[in-house]
Amino acid sequence: MKRRDFIQKGALGAAAFAISPKSSWSTSFSTRTADSRIEVLFDEPLGTISPNIYGHFAENLGGVLYDGIWVGEKSPVANIDGLRKELIEHMRKIKAPVIRYPGGCFADSYDWRDGIGPAEKRPRRTNFWANAETENAPAGHRYDPNRVGTNEFVHFCKLVGAEPYLAANVRSLPASAFQQWVEYCNSPAGSTTLADARAAAGFVEPFNVKYWGVGNESWGCGGEFTPQEYAVEFRRYSTWLPKYDERLKLIASGPNTDEWSWTREFLEEMLRKGPEELHRIYGMALHHYAWNLSRGKTQDWVAGKGDALRFDPVDWYELLREGERMEGLVTGHWQVLSEFDRDHRVKLVVDEWGPWYRPGSAATPGDLLEQMPTLRDAVFSGMTLDIFNRHPEKVAMANCAQLINCLNSLYLAHEDNFVITPVGRVFELYATHQGGAALRTIFSAPTVHYDRDGKTASFWGFQGSASVRDKDLTLTAVNPGTDEARLAEIVLRGATVRSANMTFLRHADIHAHNTFEQRDVIVPQTKPLSLNSGSLVVEFPPASVNVLNIQLN
Ligand code: AHR
Repeated sequence: MKRRDFIQKGALGAAAFAISPKSSWSTSFSTRTADSRIEVLFDEPLGTISPNIYGHFAENLGGVLYDGIWVGEKSPVANIDGLRKELIEHMRKIKAPVIRYPGGCFADSYDWRDGIGPAEKRPRRTNFWANAETENAPAGHRYDPNRVGTNEFVHFCKLVGAEPYLAANVRSLPASAFQQWVEYCNSPAGSTTLADARAAAGFVEPFNVKYWGVGNESWGCGGEFTPQEYAVEFRRYSTWLPKYDERLKLIASGPNTDEWSWTREFLEEMLRKGPEELHRIYGMALHHYAWNLSRGKTQDWVAGKGDALRFDPVDWYELLREGERMEGLVTGHWQVLSEFDRDHRVKLVVDEWGPWYRPGSAATPGDLLEQMPTLRDAVFSGMTLDIFNRHPEKVAMANCAQLINCLNSLYLAHEDNFVITPVGRVFELYATHQGGAALRTIFSAPTVHYDRDGKTASFWGFQGSASVRDKDLTLTAVNPGTDEARLAEIVLRGATVRSANMTFLRHADIHAHNTFEQRDVIVPQTKPLSLNSGSLVVEFPPASVNVLNIQLN
């Protein structure tokens, strides 16, 4: 089975500095010599890291919206206007910049008009994902009550401090519905009938939504278009949209993983009407899920999947290998874009990324697509965010799939239970990269070798990224090796260190995860790093995600 079928059915002028991590795992620190090195090149800035690459995705699917985000005003669960308070508080802490909604595949079956007006009058509709729901799913998952619509979602974003990113329906609604959704959201107070409808719901001032997706996965659940057909639709849906204070940024439905031909043929067709057509496009979406853990035995969407909790070190590395394809996807699609867009007006928007395992590990049985993130997913997520940080001129936005109660979730929640997953903890560690100036880094370390069904396979031994803001350097690093610490010399080329500390996520068990009952199995641990004169060295534990927060002179 293919995914589309599944979905349809259901320093050297610088000081080298010595850092001694006073940690329990570094007993041999004083006797070992460094096996690795991180160089940070201050004279090689890469560009500003868009805060939006730390973005999120919340689809009306399974327990994401209902139970995850929305609990209801009268719920005993702590809430703000019906929205889960603990979630809002943590998202504020990680400075969540942008949230994509309502899908995903759900978007191309959704009529935004069903989700406005008095809640008790809103229609119930069959959710796009209904066919894939299991017997034990709550009815509200299959039959969408429309209790949450544009007002509630945008209100959630405002409470969090994030920008909304709305995905418009291209498969099953006319272009006029898109225009009117923009009008409902953005027309000035009192100016239109839809502005009055918004005011009647308590939102007098415009929402000023700037990010709009024009369909989703238009090559599959979004309409099974060819790239040429989709380009025609994109032109039609974007030819006229009402313009108010907010300049709209339209995101075109882009390729699945390495479908270079989608990117190329879509742009070719767009340009048949002239070079200015590119001005309509802010970003080209790119989706990549790491799902195939079959070690090359199958491409079947179901059979190829691995388990979220039951895995051995080979599965650990295989997942990371699938995930690190992201770097080639970013550079590859960027290369295709450059064939048509020399000035690179069009950026990449990686609006769905993460691992996707087979069902069976949900914290709340019955929650469709929900899986239990472990330390493996934390390492995967750190690795992915580092890739985006290394390409700030290319990636304008990225949205981890999905925020809560779903695939690579930052949070799991059910009724009054709430837990921050290891993935949520990674977003905490990496938050200071947002808006920083990315610097080129060189990581050198021994390669990891492992046995892949009788053949030796390998994976890089150490990677990361760096950014600087004023005198604060953020250096993140992932050690993917399941059983070897990396002892790394840190070399800042072009700066010197005043002080530093290190925060990390690690656990002796690579399967470790946080549950409703044990919420703090994987939590960040912070250590001050003492500077010695002369060169030196930080120890990075095996299977870990790390951030060094370094104050510069
Ligand atoms: O994130 C789950 C689904 O994966 C989304 O709805 C779709 O866009 C993708 O195929």
